[in-house]
Amino acid sequence: MSNIRSRIVGCGSYLPERIVTNRELAERLDTSDDWIIARTGIKERHIAADGELTSDLALRASKQALGHALLEAGAVDLIIVCTTTPDDTFPATATRVQAELGITEGIAFDIQAVCSGFVYGLTVADNFIKAGQVETALVIGAETYSRILDWEDRGTCVLFGDGAGAVVLRAGTSDAAIPGEMGWGQAQGILSTHLHSDGRYRDILYVDGGPSATQTVGHLRMSGREVFRHAVTDLAAVAKESLDANGVGIDAVDWIVPHQANQRIIDGVARKLGISLDRVIVTVDRHANTSAASIPLALDQGISDGRIKRGDLVLLEAMGGGLTWGAALVRW
Ligand code: UT7
Repeated sequence: MSNIRSRIVGCGSYLPERIVTNRELAERLDTSDDWIIARTGIKERHIAADGELTSDLALRASKQALGHALLEAGAVDLIIVCTTTPDDTFPATATRVQAELGITEGIAFDIQAVCSGFVYGLTVADNFIKAGQVETALVIGAETYSRILDWEDRGTCVLFGDGAGAVVLRAGTSDAAIPGEMGWGQAQGILSTHLHSDGRYRDILYVDGGPSATQTVGHLRMSGREVFRHAVTDLAAVAKESLDANGVGIDAVDWIVPHQANQRIIDGVARKLGISLDRVIVTVDRHANTSAASIPLALDQGISDGRIKRGDLVLLEAMGGGLTWGAALVRW
């Protein structure tokens, strides 16, 4: 077996300038700040400006991640944009990011696994690196959900926001240290990833449009309660799976960086796993659900405010439309 391991050597994020509060939404919808906070924990979300595209958000997060890693864009040989809201049907948003970064070689493509997208993208990049096919990968979660929301549907439109987060992965061996702004660390990188899909549940969270089916973009539709039920059960199970695979218990985990869909889901999973909320990075209150962008956005928050430190054991977990779900255990 290869002893190559993917190290996360840089992290970055970007949120559109415009913040929309619950109160603003309540001015034009039959909802309230109290309802949204009580049911979801969300207080506000960022919304992209007219003409601000998923690729624009992705590019800003990528530049920050590359800067954090002290790497030039030319070092990147794989770009994966995890998104459900690409700029265009094709070509992939990743190719636009590649061009904007001035990269003319290597591989660039998108991954669509809805809110689990970032964990899926991280897994694919990790496997490329472990196979020795690439040395440096940029994995970006970027979304403009504001473009696929039905702004008349109070059951869904209050839940989502726009944003992007990115990480830079580099090939290393388990015992080699890596240079970077974060110092010569004892980090060991991605320890394992665990993915699942179950298409029987594809109609509890979906978009009612698409190039082949309707030739329209469509709007997000969700049976919230059903998704909620699956989320808590599946996320706790996949988190446990990742701990078992590495022979560690929850007490060894320094931080959980969960997908940020709903504070009640985050609380429920933490309770099932037996971990204190003090060790969970939460951004859902300020970002709402940014789908594939939520984990790298929260990760960047935890790193930049100094909570996540080199050597920490970090568990990432997500669940989304498909249904898809997954987890990654990372020694930071
Ligand atoms: O990223 C992964 C995908 N997404 C998720 O994980 C989300 C999963 N689901 C959820 O987070 C929750 O199910 C929601 C936040 C979407 C809804 O919370 P809930 O506690 O499951 O509420 P509900 O859908 O059962 O609705 C309860 C009531 C309903 O009224 P009635 O039928 O009881 O009279 C809704 O019409 O709340 C009403 N309601 C609202 N009221 C005020 C629904 N949306 C709103 C709203 N404001 N925005």
